[in-house]
Amino acid sequence: MSSTFDQSIFLQQLDTQWLGHSIRYFEELESTNTYLKKLSSEEIEHGLFCLTDHQTRGRGQYERKWETEKGQNLTFSIAFTPADRGRFHVLTLACALAIVEKLNEFVGSSCAAIKWPNDIILNDKKTGGILTEAVFSGNTFDRLIIGIGLNINQQEFSNELEEIATSVSLEKGEGINREQFLADLLNRIEYKYILWEQQQSSLIKTINRNIIGYGQWVGLKIDDEMQDELYKLLGIDENGALLMLNRDGGIDSFSYEQIQLVTN
Ligand code: BTN
Repeated sequence: MSSTFDQSIFLQQLDTQWLGHSIRYFEELESTNTYLKKLSSEEIEHGLFCLTDHQTRGRGQYERKWETEKGQNLTFSIAFTPADRGRFHVLTLACALAIVEKLNEFVGSSCAAIKWPNDIILNDKKTGGILTEAVFSGNTFDRLIIGIGLNINQQEFSNELEEIATSVSLEKGEGINREQFLADLLNRIEYKYILWEQQQSSLIKTINRNIIGYGQWVGLKIDDEMQDELYKLLGIDENGALLMLNRDGGIDSFSYEQIQLVTN
């Protein structure tokens, strides 16, 4: 059953210093990322938060669609205006880590993980994804939009998704209070943002420990071509590039546009 997001319950539970204090809620919207992208610089403040109960043109990575059932899940975006204009992939992964930690605590320990670069896996199925977009004004960086889609209360998926997608409710076996879940998640995202801003090395280590395949020999597609050799996944560096040990003992560094991991 679809339900409308209750902003007052959400705000009562929210315990952040700045994230989500300014909220734009819409019953229906094309896409929360597109909405925050289209605002002028003057309308943007750090931590501005946009949420909808129904996206009509939700976007995923690689120009895919992101479609979810109305009033069941969480589809939201956050605008950040960091002083540091680099390391965005690390910030995306820091948000992924906040989600994974929340799921591990809420559903059961070690049930969630990050599928690099930005999928959220729960009991071996996808439960969420992140779409990060930078907005420029001319050549000048203006804002970073981090959009998050999480399957929360959805009970059924189409035939093509059934085997590979799940929701928090399906895995926990009960209905989830979306407002409470989101408020707690934003508290965690704000905390991870602060670690990211301070360039805490512990953040990278924790992200790495939560990436599927970390420390293992995995298959790799480079520019869409499957490689014959396996590579050992060493984790991300401080810029978010993926470091892989090759069979010759050398370390190769890849950006997320270049490669896809093939893990079991
Ligand atoms: C992916 O797994 O491909 C990323 C999915 C990201 C979906 C979210 S939902 C909120 C925000 N608005 C969008 O249009 N996309 C992101």
